[in-house]
Amino acid sequence: MTVPTTTIAPLASLPRFTAITKAIEALKPSEPLYLLHPEKFTAAAKQFLEGYPGDVLYAAKSNPHPYALELLWNAGVHHFDTASLGEIEGVKAVLPEAICHFMAPVRLPGQARAALEKHGVTDFVVDSDAELDKLLAEIGDAKKIRIFVRLVASLGGALLEMSSKYGCAPEEAAWLLQRVQASGAQPCLTFHVGSQCLSPFSYAQAIEIANRTVTLAGVAIVALDIGGGFPAAYSGQEPPPYHWYFDMIKEAFANMDAQDVAKMCEPGRALCAPGMSLVTQVVLRRGDRLYLNDGIYGSFDEQRFASFDEDYPPSALTLDAKGKARTPTGELRPFRAFGPTCDSADKLPRPLMLPDGLSGGDYIVFGAMGAYTVSSRSNFNGYYPDNWAVVVA
Ligand SMILES: Cc1ncc(COP(=O)(O)O)c(C=O)c1O
Repeated sequence: MTVPTTTIAPLASLPRFTAITKAIEALKPSEPLYLLHPEKFTAAAKQFLEGYPGDVLYAAKSNPHPYALELLWNAGVHHFDTASLGEIEGVKAVLPEAICHFMAPVRLPGQARAALEKHGVTDFVVDSDAELDKLLAEIGDAKKIRIFVRLVASLGGALLEMSSKYGCAPEEAAWLLQRVQASGAQPCLTFHVGSQCLSPFSYAQAIEIANRTVTLAGVAIVALDIGGGFPAAYSGQEPPPYHWYFDMIKEAFANMDAQDVAKMCEPGRALCAPGMSLVTQVVLRRGDRLYLNDGIYGSFDEQRFASFDEDYPPSALTLDAKGKARTPTGELRPFRAFGPTCDSADKLPRPLMLPDGLSGGDYIVFGAMGAYTVSSRSNFNGYYPDNWAVVVA
């Protein structure tokens, strides 16, 4: 699998504006437009680098675009949770000094060895005997690597669960830790409490389960990686402040039996969501139906299975006769929003609350669109959102 080789304009060469409205007035975009907010990437990184008591790995899957990588690197994030050889190579192509960790529990054959030999990656994850066998056979000398055993952490605090596919129960994890130790690799533990986790307590629970697993195994772990899951502040949703998470995590770490353990976390959404907005245009209005220039095969892919935005109120803008951006008139009312492809499935799952005066040619601006948008867009039907500008406050 190769890294796509489209040419990407340098970040510094993108058009820059002082407000979203000014970008829309100047560009009148007829294709979806991604707006980067550099200071929001910096602020999100700062919160984690200052608040989390350990190494912060950016989960590159949430937004592996070179602009996001560059902005987070410049903000001080130098470790990356990567899930495939392609992702490692994508990160390294932009940031040659990046420290990558291969945190997917199932890898394609040969990828672990290539990651180690070509890119010096020494952290790997397993959640089964079979994958551990495969990893050890590929690596040869296990002393070179750390192996993280992934625990199930289905604790109910997250809007998108991450334990039905990967992870094992404490008994199996204890067995795997013993096998890792016997192999000569350094034993470690990890979990993922689920994405958009609105309950800081879930982390404390999972750390306690990790602590019990260590006792059960009778193996001294060298690192505990508490995964991602930290929420983004989406429109219509008010997640708890991050310091609640960090305080609860620190307290749970302090209650662990073993104190000499490296701590890591892997936020994705929380680091990249706030730093991007998306401007879409209404191609056509038909009654309460809006046909947009972007949909679930583009930037809204995650909407198919995530329930993040009950009553989602994005902002709407219309350009007046003088080309000035104004809010359309009328009461807010629900609209059905469809994407541009021919597929009937290409519709947003929940209605958008927008002013009744909205019409074709108007714009809808979605905030906090940096996570799982760019990373999972496709070019189905020939639509591929890829226009960029920067908004600096
Ligand atoms: C192993 C792992 N770590 C971290 C993340 C990032 O999660 P989030 O974006 O919820 O922080 C994911 C998301 O899929 C993941 O699979």
